[in-house]
Amino acid sequence: MESLPLLTIFCTLFISSLHNLSLAADTITPDLPIKDGQTLISSSQTFELGFFSRGTSKNRYFGIWYKKSPETVVWVANRNSPLTDLFGVITIGNKGNLVLLNETKNVIWSSNVSRIIARPVAQLLDSGNLVLRDNGSSRNTESYRWQSFDHPSDTLLPGMKLGWNLKSGQESYLTSWRSINDPSPGEFTYRLDIHGLPDLFIASGSVKKARTGPWNGVFFGGTPNLHNSVFQPILVHNEDEMYYMYRLVNNSVSTILTLDQSGSVERFVMYDQNSEWTMLYSTPMDVCENYGQCGANAICKARKSTICECLQGFRSATEGDLDIQNLFGSRKCARISTLDCQRDEGFLKLPGIKLPDLLEFRLIESMDLKECEAECSKNCSCSAFGNSNLSGSGSGCLMWFGDLVDIIQLPGRMMGQDIHIRVPVSELASTSNSKRKKRLKIALAASVSTLLGSFISGWNLKAREVFLVRLQMDIYRNTKHFLTVSSNREVGSHTA
Ligand SMILES: *[C@@H]1O[C@H](CO)[C@@H](O)[C@H](O)[C@H]1NC(C)=O
Ligand SMILES: *[C@@H]1O[C@H](CO)[C@@H](O)[C@H](O)[C@H]1NC(C)=O
Ligand SMILES: *[C@@H]1O[C@H](CO)[C@@H](O)[C@H](O)[C@H]1NC(C)=O
Ligand SMILES: *[C@@H]1O[C@H](CO)[C@@H](O)[C@H](O)[C@H]1NC(C)=O
Ligand SMILES: *[C@@H]1O[C@H](CO)[C@@H](O)[C@H](O)[C@H]1NC(C)=O
Ligand SMILES: *[C@@H]1O[C@H](CO)[C@@H](O)[C@H](O)[C@H]1NC(C)=O
Repeated sequence: MESLPLLTIFCTLFISSLHNLSLAADTITPDLPIKDGQTLISSSQTFELGFFSRGTSKNRYFGIWYKKSPETVVWVANRNSPLTDLFGVITIGNKGNLVLLNETKNVIWSSNVSRIIARPVAQLLDSGNLVLRDNGSSRNTESYRWQSFDHPSDTLLPGMKLGWNLKSGQESYLTSWRSINDPSPGEFTYRLDIHGLPDLFIASGSVKKARTGPWNGVFFGGTPNLHNSVFQPILVHNEDEMYYMYRLVNNSVSTILTLDQSGSVERFVMYDQNSEWTMLYSTPMDVCENYGQCGANAICKARKSTICECLQGFRSATEGDLDIQNLFGSRKCARISTLDCQRDEGFLKLPGIKLPDLLEFRLIESMDLKECEAECSKNCSCSAFGNSNLSGSGSGCLMWFGDLVDIIQLPGRMMGQDIHIRVPVSELASTSNSKRKKRLKIALAASVSTLLGSFISGWNLKAREVFLVRLQMDIYRNTKHFLTVSSNREVGSHTA
């Protein structure tokens, strides 16, 4: 009689440990399905998989999230076909597919692999990838018959590919959620454009909303300069594939890229000791990042009161303020004097910008910048050129033909590159003249402030800074007149 309760306790312990075992495991097999309410956890406790709903919605979705941040759902299986009760089960179907069944055992979602898998096992890896493989074969990535990483939702995890399988034509890209509580596919996508040099772009339906500059061997132009501290961007291009991905630099700092329901691409970081994500940046960040904001042959400057300026050598085709015109969609800056390509023409360097979109272009990887200039000069419709590859000391020739669209003057924390724009020689002369004036002004202002530096050295740092900045601005303003006069005289004596 005494042994019975003991046995009961023993049995209970045994059964509950079995139950826990199934919860702590990271695999789904034909014998170990996952019911709504149960979850799987990846081996180092990073990711968790199971059923969830959002907000007040009764819809149940099967997905993957960060274990310490369950709000951060990174992948959803049945985005288009939610369950509305708690009787969903994820299991392995009879042909070896991963399937989601409802209460009456109807297939609601399937991994849809056509070849039969003999000993199917689905495993949640520590990368957040849910993979389906044959337990008989080796565990390398080639043995995966299906993987969630090939079917992204709205989140790009480290190691996940965004781009193209060139053999099958299969594209992998992010699709936003419809709303914050609705994972069904929304209107925005984030994709890799691979005609010419690849760039990443946000689209609403088939309309481009924003883009990065082209990949230049080191980074996508016009993106924030913070890669080295948190993640390493990688562009892979071989016979089979072309894709963007990123790796973590430090395993105790996680980072993800997501496309939110309003069409912003956001990068978040989380440090090991925290369970909260911090936003590092969000794109589009300002009005200049809206695709083609300033129209053709203009540059967008977010810091200026009139954000759109025609490129040097161009003027607004219709009279009036370019920004106001943009509101009404008539965007165009045209050349002040048409290029005839007989007279002398030169190239004006525009440094540190986001390169214009590759609408009509040529790419010659074997040329250097000098050869590129010569090549561009030869063809009258070549409007600009620059290096295609910034790796090492720079190489490759990228030439633009016709209109230049979506150029941005970037703030200091964004990574830009140089472009050389074709202009008549008269434009080059006026530029070098105004540059010289500016240099003179700055030199003068600096020397006066150095003189004063000793005078105010007793002040505290902040006061000194403010004083010096004000002073330099005053000097700058006051010397403007003098310098204009003197440089005119200079030019005058030249021509005389
Ligand atoms: C299960 O799904 C099938 C097919 O969509 C549907 O006809 C059936 O009513 C569902 N069963 C339940 C209990 O919802
Ligand atoms: C699987 O295939 C069926 C039939 O071709 C299709 O209706 C369904 O959308 C596919 N499911 C997924 C998740 O691709
Ligand atoms: C996979 O195969 C190994 C070795 O053959 C075996 O020990 C293990 O139980 C199998 N796992 C599953 C889930 O079938
Ligand atoms: C990784 O990040 C952690 C947390 O910020 C920091 O303490 C550690 O020094 C970093 N390790 C390396 C190798 O940078
Ligand atoms: C100039 O380049 C364009 C675009 O590549 C090309 O169509 C055209 O034939 C070229 N013209 C000459 C004279 O080479
Ligand atoms: C870019 O330049 C680097 C360094 O010179 C070189 O190794 C790489 O192959 C170049 N990439 C392409 C696509 O030409």
